[in-house]
Amino acid sequence: MQADIAIIGGTGVYDPELLIDTKEELLNTKYGCVNVIHGSYANKKVAFIARHGKEHHTPPHKVNYRANIEAIHKINAKKILATAAVGSLRLDYRPGDFVILDQFVDFTKRRNYTFFDGDDGVAHIDLTNPYCPKLRDRLIQASQQLNLNFHKRGTYICTEGPRFETPAEISLYANWNCDVVGMTNVPEVILAREKELCYATVAMVTNYGAGISQHPLTHKEVSEVMANNIKGIRELFFYMIEN
Ligand code: HPA
Repeated sequence: MQADIAIIGGTGVYDPELLIDTKEELLNTKYGCVNVIHGSYANKKVAFIARHGKEHHTPPHKVNYRANIEAIHKINAKKILATAAVGSLRLDYRPGDFVILDQFVDFTKRRNYTFFDGDDGVAHIDLTNPYCPKLRDRLIQASQQLNLNFHKRGTYICTEGPRFETPAEISLYANWNCDVVGMTNVPEVILAREKELCYATVAMVTNYGAGISQHPLTHKEVSEVMANNIKGIRELFFYMIEN
């Protein structure tokens, strides 16, 4: 099956609500099997992948990023809209706010970062603009139109997880001018670029980073804030598909 656009749903975004005529496909790739939900909206073919699986069974360091991106490449979708729950490293990026990411810093440790392992040749991709500038511009315009609480840019630092950070780490990352922290954007964004797909992430701030936050963090808090603000992401993505 083919698609015009793919959505990768992160924490709290597990099902492709609003899509019509949905069909599930178990797509085999060289890297593993991916559950893709195909549907349509506004006459566009949309494919949805839940990054952590339908019931959040796959932790960030075990997500099969290569299989997910390869699956999207196989169904011929040229654009990817992704969501990501993030902790904030600065007081003016508040829980509930959206951030249209524009840069990342990689602090992960043991993932499969490339399709170019040497078997299919050697490649060194350019990441001056790691997130698709065109898709980012459209996300910014759409967020303005929809009156969302959002920030036009943000540097995402990706940690290995699945643990949350120490306050010392959060303070270090903030001093490095990172804005938000999460566990999944690397290597997803890199792999999408290797396949020459137009990829952008809307991050949602679910909490302040450890030490900025006055209380210990839990996955429950992250999921609850995500659940309370999911409406905005849905509106934004469907606006993007429609326009
Ligand atoms: N740290 C890392 N990942 C996260 C956080 C955080 O504070 N919140 C949501 N995802």
